[in-house]
Amino acid sequence: MPAIVLVGAQWGDEGKGKATDALGQHSDYVVKFNGGNNAGHTVVIGGEKYALHLLPSGILSPGCIPVIGNGVVIDLAVLRSEMDTLTSRGVDCSRLMISADAHLIPSYNRILDKVAERFLGNRRIGTTGRGIGPTYADKMNRVGLRVQDLFDENILRQKVAGALDQKNHLLVKVYNRRAIEVEQVVEELLSAVEWVRPLTRDTGLELNRALDAGRTVLFEAGQAAMLDVDHGTYPFVTSSNAISAGACTGTGVPPNRIDRVVAVIKAYTTRVGEGPFPTELHDESGQWLQAKGHEFGVTTGRPRRCGWYDAVVARYASRVNGATDLVLTKLDVLTGLERVPVCVAYDVDGQRHEEMPMTQTDFHHARPIYEYLDGWSEDLSGCRSFDDLPAAAQRYVLALEGMSGARISAVGVGPGRDATVIRHEILG
Ligand code: IMP
Ligand code: MG
Repeated sequence: MPAIVLVGAQWGDEGKGKATDALGQHSDYVVKFNGGNNAGHTVVIGGEKYALHLLPSGILSPGCIPVIGNGVVIDLAVLRSEMDTLTSRGVDCSRLMISADAHLIPSYNRILDKVAERFLGNRRIGTTGRGIGPTYADKMNRVGLRVQDLFDENILRQKVAGALDQKNHLLVKVYNRRAIEVEQVVEELLSAVEWVRPLTRDTGLELNRALDAGRTVLFEAGQAAMLDVDHGTYPFVTSSNAISAGACTGTGVPPNRIDRVVAVIKAYTTRVGEGPFPTELHDESGQWLQAKGHEFGVTTGRPRRCGWYDAVVARYASRVNGATDLVLTKLDVLTGLERVPVCVAYDVDGQRHEEMPMTQTDFHHARPIYEYLDGWSEDLSGCRSFDDLPAAAQRYVLALEGMSGARISAVGVGPGRDATVIRHEILG
């Protein structure tokens, strides 16, 4: 089973880090293909907690080569400091491979991300302020900077000057900010050449050859289906393709080489940032989920909006990703509820919708139609097989499986690496 794509099925923070880590242990490569340091994975190994933003989780599995694909946007200062932190904790970072085609986040795009959000006022997206959106916009506008540009100082200077030609007008005349010096940006970027050069590869070639040789490659998405720039709740989305197809454009590995698509989905729903969220709870149940599930952002520390499981979102995410397996996470968080509401369809202005409405306007009007399943009070953290789960928890999992568009192959019952119920071997 050589090529597996792992994606988030909701609005991010489904607990992909743990799944990536579990699958990554059996993979020869773990590849990040979209996004940048807007993501945040928490992985707990042997009681140690690791928060990763930019590095693929594969960095924590010694036998595995972590790869940053061409679809990623890289903040070099963040990458360096993340590598330094891990190195000081004994993790070897020298295996990392970086695509020569990946785009760089220059300092001016961090500034632009923040001022643009402020400018939008109540129409803001709620971005992470890391320069992600402006950098993808530069890529499409063909004024972006790539890793390979670091190795040609003249080209780099020309490209930075070209970009700043436009951006300084924007910064000064629209946003009332100081202009940014070309040389300052160039110097900052060039200071990374020495450590970036030995890590830089034609990663597309490397990965295709690895697959030719029968190696196992795990592609890990940042963000999630509902934050995908094409298939999410636009414009309240991130700026890259976070669905499984992004693994192809973001690495140079073609679709017919992908064998499995694993979508990670939480037993309830959360979202950070702005935008529609039909099952969002504004009462004490929402606060209960937030506290019990520790729903605070790894990257920004922001409290996450919380709500019940949304099977319409699940079906949609299974479809756009081509999910072959679902990993249901954080089931243990729901322990202690008498009844567990599950959204099975939407009411949109009096009409029942079983599938995602066609327009964002309708999605904004969507009101959840709930079914109520029996809760359970037993501690799940020690369960390792499906039969170990209390009967009501089993029924909850089976009910979700029936409405969510793919088989549920694993169920998370606690934060630790081994706190998982396996139902089907994904790598089998
Ligand atoms: P950006 O990716 O920083 O441009 O932010 C755009 C939207 O995506 C905002 O609503 C962010 O909160 C959200 N977002 C970006 N990355 C993540 C993530 O890793 N988890 C959850 N939400 C995210
Ligand atoms: Mg996260």
